[in-house]
Amino acid sequence: MLPLTFRLRLQTRFEASFCGRLSARLWARLGGKREGVKPLLQYRDDPEGFAKGPLGIKLTYKQRLVLRGIRDHKSTAVAASHGAGKTFIAAVAAIWWYCTREPAIVITTAPTGHQVKNLLWRYIRTLHRNARVRLPGLVLTVGIESDNPDWYARGFAARSSLDSENGEFSQAFPMS
Ligand SMILES: Nc1ncnc2c1ncn2[C@@H]1O[C@H](COP(=O)(O)OP(=O)(O)OP(=O)(O)O)[C@@H](O)[C@H]1O
Ligand SMILES: [Mg+2]
Repeated sequence: MLPLTFRLRLQTRFEASFCGRLSARLWARLGGKREGVKPLLQYRDDPEGFAKGPLGIKLTYKQRLVLRGIRDHKSTAVAASHGAGKTFIAAVAAIWWYCTREPAIVITTAPTGHQVKNLLWRYIRTLHRNARVRLPGLVLTVGIESDNPDWYARGFAARSSLDSENGEFSQAFPMS
């Protein structure tokens, strides 16, 4: 029997490569049509404009500050009260980064699979679907894939379902 950490690592690799192949196949089935990112490149340094324009959403002043922080700094931490819109703005930031660079890699993490799938990625899926323009990428439950293996967004849970019951922390676990 392989040790747990080794098994997790193997599984991570397998799922990442499977995801890449799957997206290419899905892409082909969808007609191989690839949305260009060029019209969106103008928003590379303008996440607020991206939210207002292509996403068609209004942000609060504090949410705009968060986007500026992400644009201007390597690390941004947000402490705000319950329901203030933290997860929502994280979703906006993830889509902005993915859509305004080619290629781009976006990795999101949360303590549990539930938080990844039903909170952050639910917002991402909705924002992507309701955008005013057709955004690049094929949106999956917890990922956005393209036909470029170096251009993707994926959600990870810090705890796998294997160890979530006893609360032990393990390596990041892929959700897609
Ligand atoms: N700019 C916005 N435009 C429209 N709806 C928004 C906006 N910001 C937040 N919301 C909505 O407000 C609600 C709370 O947002 P969110 O879940 O991001 O809060 P939170 O700070 O992460 O809350 P919690 O502390 O529970 O994690 C959600 O329904 C979300 O869709
Ligand atoms: Mg939240």
